[in-house]
Order: sequence, then C-alpha cells, then structure tokens
Amino acid sequence: MVQLWIPGPTEVRPEILAACALPMIGHRSATMTETIERMDPHLHLAFGADQSGDASVAVHSASATAMMEAALIGAGRGKVLCLVNGAFSKRWYNIALQLGRDARAIEVPMGEVVDLGEVRRVLDAEGPFDALTVVSSETSTGTATPLAPLGELLTHYPDTLFMADLVSWIAGAPVDFDANHMDFGLAGVQKAFALPPGVAVVCASAAFMERARAQTERGFYLDPVRIIDGHLARKTPATPAISLYFALAQQLEDISAGVALPESAGACSGAAAWQARFDKHSRMQARTVEWAAGHGLSLLPAPEHASPTVSCIRAGDLDVGALVGGLAERGYAISNGYGDLKGKTFRIGHMGDHSEDGLEAVLTAADDVLS
Ligand SMILES: Cc1ncc(COP(=O)(O)O)c(C=O)c1O
Repeated sequence: MVQLWIPGPTEVRPEILAACALPMIGHRSATMTETIERMDPHLHLAFGADQSGDASVAVHSASATAMMEAALIGAGRGKVLCLVNGAFSKRWYNIALQLGRDARAIEVPMGEVVDLGEVRRVLDAEGPFDALTVVSSETSTGTATPLAPLGELLTHYPDTLFMADLVSWIAGAPVDFDANHMDFGLAGVQKAFALPPGVAVVCASAAFMERARAQTERGFYLDPVRIIDGHLARKTPATPAISLYFALAQQLEDISAGVALPESAGACSGAAAWQARFDKHSRMQARTVEWAAGHGLSLLPAPEHASPTVSCIRAGDLDVGALVGGLAERGYAISNGYGDLKGKTFRIGHMGDHSEDGLEAVLTAADDVLS
C-alpha cells in the first residue's frame, strides 16, 4: 500500500474508515437527523461563517463538480464572469457554457493569478454579471487566489454574487466566508478534510438564497434551494451516502477537538483547533518549498500565491516519472504535473490529517530517489 501524498484524495484515518463501516440506518430516521445536526457548528467553523449570521451550510451527496453546477443554477440565467487559471477554474467556466449561460472568462496561464485590476475593468465594461466564479486553490497548479481582495471588490458590484470553489482550500486554510463577503462556497471532502470522496459541503449567503429562490427551472437533484433548505430541515432530497455522512460528522467533531495536530499545538478545541490545523498546513507548505529550494527547484506559482495544501514544483531537468516511480517503490504516492504540465512539474499534496513528521519521511525518501 502506498501512502497518499497526491493532491487528493488524501489519507483517511482508520477511525474515519471505521465510521464508514457503522451499521446502516434509514435516512429518514432519528439517527440520521442527529448525524446531520452534529455537523453544522463545525461546518460554520470550517467556512468561517458565524452560526448566528445569515449564511447557511449544507451537505449533499455529490462531488464538488456537481456543486459548481448547483451554484450556477442558483445564481441566475444571465452573465457570469469566470476567473480561469487552471483546469478546475476552466471546468467551472465550461459548466457555465454547458448550462447556456453567457459566460465570460478572464484566463491567465496556469500558475498565475488573474489581476484584480482586470477583473474591475471587465466588471465595469461588460457588467452587470450575475456571479463571479473563482477557484481559491487551483489544485492543478498549486496556485492560491486570495479571496479577501475579490470579496472587497465585489462589495462595489452588489448584483454580482461571489462564488468560490474551496475544494483544496477548506480545512487547510481559513475561508472567512463572512469577512470576505462571500455568497457561495463549495467543496468536496477528499482533500484537507481527509475523508473519502462522495459528499460535498456548501455555504450560501442570504443574498444567494434570495437569488436562487427567484429562479425557475432549477432542476431537482442540483437545486441549491432544495439542497440547503433540505439540510436545514434535516432532510435530504434523496437517499444520501449515509456512510459518508457518518464519516463527515465524526471528522468534523474530531477536527474541532484538535485531532491530527502536533504536540506543540497543545490542547485546543473549537476555532483554536481549526486555526492550529491551518497553521500545520502552512508549515508543511513552507517546509516543502524549503526542501525544493535545497534541490534548486521552485514552485510554479509566485511564492505569495502558493496553495497551502498542494505544492506544484517546477521540475527543471529532473525526470518526474522517475521521481514519482522511485517514491512509489518506497511507499509514497505523489503526482505528476496536470495536463500540459505533465513532466514539467510534480505535485505534493500536504493536506488533511498528514503530520509534519510524515512529510519529513516523504521528503527524505525523495532525497534518496534524487541521489
Ligand atoms: C479545485 C478543484 N475543484 C474541483 C474539483 C472537482 O472535484 P470532484 O472531483 O470532487 O468533483 C477538484 C478535484 O480535484 C479540485 O481540485
């Protein structure tokens, strides 16, 4: 068995796998209601949305891609502005086109971040847009787009909902949904939540919900109103992935209780435990960059745009296939570059419940391969 240090799915702790193996229950049972109830306070912490505020959290049995579609269904049938800097942000743009939206992409090369001034220019010259889409951590390139400046900018464009893919960001770094004036956040759980894939989590502002309720023809399974109202009523629209709900409830409670933190974090819980988890990710990211520099290698994105959970390293003359293969022989899986970046970059996913000691072991094995 190889240990997963790819950019997701990542390793799942045995305790969580055990939660997946709990006896089955009916999805309209009291135990199911309790399972959903257990999640909300922790989901609010993960999204950085005040529990007494106007944002609603929800869970749906689907992949993150499905929630990209749900977000667009709720945002309206008009124009959507998509910031594209890699494979997943391009996917969101393509989904908008597939849904027949008047989608406008601002596209920059992989590893770069769309310039805020250009966003402002397009909003002014071509708006109003119903929504803006952005991927906070482009897993294909290990590139982070800061959410705060975008959120601030969009306060000047009240018609434009701020929608972010947080797939490889959430549970690895703070989202600050409220502080960043966000309207819709979505994620799968196979990245920094360190869960098996198959359920998605979302957070929606009151403005998003109002807009979504006004839409006709929202479909059924990906109707964000049905998903979020259903969650609030503790009822799922269809039979959910019950085993994954058990796992999610367990993992959310465990993260809030300070699971998978180094001893140096001390005993912490609640928001402090989430912050300690973010700090751990940040140290693992810095350590990976330091290791790369030791081999004369650097990240694909500029240092200030490095993802907290996925390091995408320029390979230079290094044989990426040999590195990935050599590590696999030593029991560790890392990833080659994505798409056109294959052979030119490699990616290490340092996320979830992985420890700094664990990362050290991977980097030592990589040293061994490289020597
Ligand atoms: C940033 C990002 N967005 C979206 C997705 C799609 O997620 P899923 O495969 O769960 O639909 C991924 C998957 O890796 C991702 O990394």
